[in-house]
Amino acid sequence: MDTRKLSERLAEARQPHVLQYWDQLSPEEQAEMFEDLESLNFMEINKFFETAMKASGQNSQEKVDTRMEPVPREVLGSVTRDRECLKEWEEEGLRCISENKVAVLLLAGGQGTRLGVSYPKGMYDVRLPSHKTLFQIQAERIRRLEQLAEKQHSRKCCIPWYIMTSGRTMDMTKTFFIQQKYFGLKEENVFFFQQGMLPAVDFNGKIILEGKGKLSMAPDGNGGLYRALGTQNIVKDMEMRGISYIHVYCVDNILVKVADPAFIGFCTLKGADCGAKVVEKTNPTEAVGVVCKVDGRYQVVEYSEITLATAEKRSADGRLMFNAGNIANHFFTLTFLKEIVRTHEPQLQHHVAQKKIPYVNTQGQLIKPDKPNGIKMEKFVFDIFQFAKTFVVYEVLREDEFSPLKNADSQDGKDNPTTARQALMSLHHRWILNAGGHFVDENGTPIPAIPRHGPAGTVTPEVSQKCLSLKDGTDLPIKCEISPLVSYGGEGLEHLVNGKAFQPTLVIDENGVRELVKNGL
Ligand code: UTP
Repeated sequence: MDTRKLSERLAEARQPHVLQYWDQLSPEEQAEMFEDLESLNFMEINKFFETAMKASGQNSQEKVDTRMEPVPREVLGSVTRDRECLKEWEEEGLRCISENKVAVLLLAGGQGTRLGVSYPKGMYDVRLPSHKTLFQIQAERIRRLEQLAEKQHSRKCCIPWYIMTSGRTMDMTKTFFIQQKYFGLKEENVFFFQQGMLPAVDFNGKIILEGKGKLSMAPDGNGGLYRALGTQNIVKDMEMRGISYIHVYCVDNILVKVADPAFIGFCTLKGADCGAKVVEKTNPTEAVGVVCKVDGRYQVVEYSEITLATAEKRSADGRLMFNAGNIANHFFTLTFLKEIVRTHEPQLQHHVAQKKIPYVNTQGQLIKPDKPNGIKMEKFVFDIFQFAKTFVVYEVLREDEFSPLKNADSQDGKDNPTTARQALMSLHHRWILNAGGHFVDENGTPIPAIPRHGPAGTVTPEVSQKCLSLKDGTDLPIKCEISPLVSYGGEGLEHLVNGKAFQPTLVIDENGVRELVKNGL
């Protein structure tokens, strides 16, 4: 253990305080800390800090309003406005999948601090009737999609699943997949890799210690993907497998259409190297980033970066002008990703997130500050849009495709386990109705359908009351869950439900159609 060299490196980087408790550590603690520190490049960390702070200073002063342009219609595909093209796009996507050209890449390296559980978010059970975790739902969607592509093109295919974890989530994620037997997927088609971690620093760039022998480390943002793709040889692996297209998505969206064939087909038919799936932003003050052009290049502009006047601007059709709400759901060609890894990744700057970072004081006690005392440095997955040669945007319905799990359950909560569960069951309810089924109560009286866009427009006070109660964290009146192994996007249900009445809770899975209440389950 060459501690002299290590302290020289730290002194040179103006971080000597990191070793201030060294003499108080046990030999084991010293060895552990030495190993952690040896893997870090302090000069590089200082440089990241300087550029990130400089960029954040500029961004906070300057609004980008005057340099922004909305997404032009010719690069936009929409599930509502281009209905007549959907079949063609979907068929094209399924063809690509059947030729083993499509991979999915899951961003699952986040810490999930807002949700507040000690295990990876993908292992979360939002209390569906089946108690499936987010990981299981996604795995089963992959399996079903492989079957659909195989059936359509009469050849065996596979969609490899690349899962990005971090130092904080890797071991638990891997163990969970092993315990769950990869949810029926082949082990050799599921790859785990780890993104980088960076130390949290105070406002002067000094590394924060969370223990006498431990730095406060955090994953380097979901844009840490691009460095990891290179360092972990993921791009090489994709190349070896003959992958051409990659669908990248976040672990916490319970409605995510993993490897959505229509999205993939739309992007490939447009000759895009980079695509973003978006949902329409309808409320000007909603704190969601929007995809748009700035100085002629695509990027995501956060709500805080524009004035209210710009956020409120409307197009001739009455929609918000900047309405392409980013949901971190992207299409990339492998050629584009290779170019990013080889050339552009080092140019991507970290963003600054001010946080309350627990630190150890001179008495060795862990202090949890009540206001931000430092920053975490993060890259974002959408930082690479600017390098796209052909960029496209694909607009989908929020209620069909986007319900993220961010927060713990609370009264009046948003994006929490209750809203995620309700979003999935509400989607499945609509699938049943579309396939010709309907629901009845315990007396056989038809239960009115819940309107697609929430409680407005409901007629009877009883139904209205039921719908309003959704906001209070109670469940939807109609509980219904369809296994992804039976239906990926609402297909294949007619023969099971057409003309039939069901009493909730309805579960449709590989074992058949079951009404849990009736059966006393
Ligand atoms: P969020 O930014 O919502 O972060 O991540 P989070 O970790 O899930 O939750 P909080 O902010 O700590 O409460 C959006 C997506 O990006 C992934 C997350 O796993 C999630 O799928 N992510 C985030 C990473 O893969 N790496 C990161 O460093 C950060």
